[in-house]
Formats: sequence, C-alpha cells, structure tokens
Amino acid sequence: MSPGEQVPPGPPEIVPAEGRLAVFCVGLGAVGTTLIAGVESIRVGSGQPIGSLSQLGTVRLGRRDEQRVARIGDLVPLASLDQLDFCAWDPFPDDAFVAASRAGVLDQPSIERVGAFLRTVRPLPAVFDPAYVTQVHGPNTRAEESHRQRVEAIRADMMTFLEDKSSARGVMVWCGSTEALLADHEAYHSLEAFEEALERSDRAIAPSMLYAYAALGLGIPYINCSPNLSIDTPALTQYAAEHAVAIAGKDLKTGQTMVKTVLAPMIKARLLGLSGWYSTNILGNRDGEVLQDPDSFKAKEQSKLGVLEGIMQPELYPELYGDFEHQVSINYYPPRGDNKEGWDNIDIFGWLGYPMQLKVNFLCRDSILAAPLVLDLLLFTDLAQRAGMHGIQEWLSFYFKSPQCASGVYPEHDLFIQLTKLKNTLRFLAGEEPITHLGIEYYDYFS
Ligand SMILES: NC(=O)c1ccc[n+]([C@@H]2O[C@H](COP(=O)([O-])OP(=O)(O)OC[C@H]3O[C@@H](n4cnc5c(N)ncnc54)[C@H](O)[C@@H]3O)[C@@H](O)[C@H]2O)c1
Repeated sequence: MSPGEQVPPGPPEIVPAEGRLAVFCVGLGAVGTTLIAGVESIRVGSGQPIGSLSQLGTVRLGRRDEQRVARIGDLVPLASLDQLDFCAWDPFPDDAFVAASRAGVLDQPSIERVGAFLRTVRPLPAVFDPAYVTQVHGPNTRAEESHRQRVEAIRADMMTFLEDKSSARGVMVWCGSTEALLADHEAYHSLEAFEEALERSDRAIAPSMLYAYAALGLGIPYINCSPNLSIDTPALTQYAAEHAVAIAGKDLKTGQTMVKTVLAPMIKARLLGLSGWYSTNILGNRDGEVLQDPDSFKAKEQSKLGVLEGIMQPELYPELYGDFEHQVSINYYPPRGDNKEGWDNIDIFGWLGYPMQLKVNFLCRDSILAAPLVLDLLLFTDLAQRAGMHGIQEWLSFYFKSPQCASGVYPEHDLFIQLTKLKNTLRFLAGEEPITHLGIEYYDYFS
C-alpha cells in the first residue's frame, strides 16, 4: 500500500515464510556479532531469546472474557531462526568469532560454544568512506572508484550470497557505525536528484545510502539501526515505494531512551510539569569511540533529543512543558566496554508548582538489549514484505529512537502506544479485530 491508498478491507494475503532468509548485516561489530552469536546459541539450545517479542511475545485476541491469547509466532507466519543465513560487510577483516571476542559483549565460553559457526561468517570488503566514520581504520574496504560501481559491487555480493544459500528472500540491516550527521542536500530531496548525485559520485551520498540503494533496487527490505540518515530521505523513501520494498528506521531504542519513553509519558499522563532532564552516559565500546567524533555524536544527539519534545507536546501544554531544559551526553570510557551506565536526573514539579526530582541509574548492556530488537526487526520486516506492505513500517517504531513516519504525521514515541500499534498491526495481518481498550461492552452503563 502507498500513502493515500485505502487500507484494505481485510487482511492482505501473506506469502508463506518458506525457504531460507538471507540476513545482510552491514557492520560486524558489537550489535551484529551479538545478534549472530545469539541466534546460533538459541538454535543449538544454549541460550534463550530473552528480550525478543517475536520469539516470546503474545497477543490477546478478541474480547477480554474470551481468554484468547496467541503467541506471535503462531499468529503470523514468521521465518524461523533455523531459516536464517548471515552475510556481512566490515572494514575489519575479522570473522564473527574474532569480532565477537573483540566486542567483549558475550563471555568467551558462550562465544566458543558457537565458535565453529561464527568462524564461517567472514565479512566481505566494505564500501567505506572515512569522512563519514573518522574513528574506524580497517583495511577490508573496496577500491571501486565510482558510486555506481560501489552499488553494483554490493549487489553482486548479495546476488552471490543469495545464490550460494539458495535463499528465498533477503533483508538488510545497517548495524554499521554511526555516520556523521549530514547537512541537508538537494540530492536527498528526490529520487531524480539522488540518482544524478550517484552518477557523479557526489560525496553527499554516504556509504549507508549506497547499501540501502543497492538493497532496495534488488527488492530487499532495509532496516536502519543507527541514527544516520541512510534511508530517511524523500529520495530513498521514494525508491523504496517504487520498488515496493519495506523500510524501517532509525536508531535502536535500547537503554536510556527506552527508559525515557516510558517515564516521560508517565509524567505527562499525570500532568506533572517538567523543568529539566539531564541524561549522561559512560560507554566504552567501539560505538562509544565512534561517538567521540563530534559529527557522529551530533547524529546520535539529535536522535536522543527528539523524543521528549514529541512526547511532552509543549505547544499544547506551555505551562507544563514550554520551557524544559534537555541535555544528553555520552562519554567514551573504555573500562566499561559494552556495559553502558546511564544517569538521568529529572526535575519535575507538581500541584502549585512544588518541585520534585527523579533519579535513574541504569547499568545496562548495550548490545544485549540491541540484539533481540534487530532479530525482531528483521523477522517483522520480512513479514511486512511478504504481506505486500511496502515503504515505511511505522508499526515498528516500537524499536526506534527516531521512528520514521509518513510526511504529515508526527512520530509516536511513547513505548506503550508503539507496542499497541505493533500488536494491532499483527492482529490486522492475522484477520483479527484491533483492540481499542475501550472496554465499555463489559458494563451496563446505558441499560
Ligand atoms: N549497541 C546498542 O545498543 C545500540 C543502540 C542503538 C543504536 N546502535 C547503533 O548501532 C550501530 C552499531 O553499533 P555497535 O555497538 O555494533 O557499533 P560497533 O562499532 O561495535 O560496530 C559497528 C561496525 O560497523 C563497521 N562499519 C563502519 N562503517 C561501515 C561500512 N561503511 N560498511 C560496513 N561496516 C562498517 C565498523 O567497522 C564496526 O565493526 C551504531 O550506529 C550504534 O549507534 C547501537
């Protein structure tokens, strides 16, 4: 369906999830390796898919007195973990075993248990431009001279993998580093301008856009796990529509922002005022290192800052949210590795303006939170593609800090509204009624 078209009266036909699903992972770092090692650990029975809605989640169906609940995997036809094959690109030539060991997310015995499999995932040479990620210096990069050749090289890699694995379908996930924040450029405004810029190898086109363009042109869905623009431009959204491909983004909502999008709606629900929200983090993984570059951090900062404005709606509540201060920082602190520590100090005010404070200290594991989200995203995006739902998958905004949405609507940030949206979309796909939570039918109010 394209924007503006009617919602179909009934659920769309969904192509069965038969055959193998190729997962094209751009970037074999902390998130990518934790995903791949995790999937293999679950497949061999040495781990549980904790944190994954697609694997553990349920959906209530029908009225509350019907007691009907379905597991998501029984409600809609998702690919199973056994059907997944992984292909990756990275400027570092380390296979997934070495890369996972280096990322320091999983302990060595867990990595060893799936070591034989991880050694088979060897990154292909990356389309890489150091101007976009200044802190990564890997030798495993492609030497093509033009953007067009780079796109063709990525496509050739993908076609070879699809053929080798006899894949029925593919899905691409950007798990690469955060690219520098880009200033607006006419090349992003329309597909025509983008393709002209592509032909002249304009540096305004970032590597992530080349991967996305390569995938979409092959009819392969693209998911953006980082805050860089990538597919979040009219040009590539239009390209996705023209090729009838599903896209989803951007920037995984894992730690501090997940907490923020639960606490902010709570404050708003009670109409408590907000005078300030100070968020800081220490992080010692490669992502933290990349974010030391001010331009990469700007991309992340923008993505982290956006959620509060969206949730609090200061234009509707000027006396409560018209003047709050919001600060976010990430400090690269190597001793912590992937174990991020976030602090939030929230200054709120209540009845008659009396001030109060809320403090949150979240000692999380960044990629342990991220991996199940990537798994869900790739399975749900593949489902959307098989259901003929192309373009922006806003129902997957549950997973993102900066959810892409249709022009003319604002993004929905509240985690539980996002979850409701996601579950209602699954109900819709399964031919079940959406649940409004009105609940009036259980009472005799008007008798
Ligand atoms: N870890 C989390 O919880 C989390 C949460 C939200 C968003 N993210 C985002 O996900 C992305 C990945 O995070 P990570 O922790 O795995 O980072 P990471 O630094 O461990 O891994 C990124 C990998 O991408 C590679 N890379 C960079 N440019 C590339 C290119 N052009 N082609 C192919 N590979 C390329 C790097 O060499 C590196 O190995 C980042 O943008 C991060 O901001 C991560």
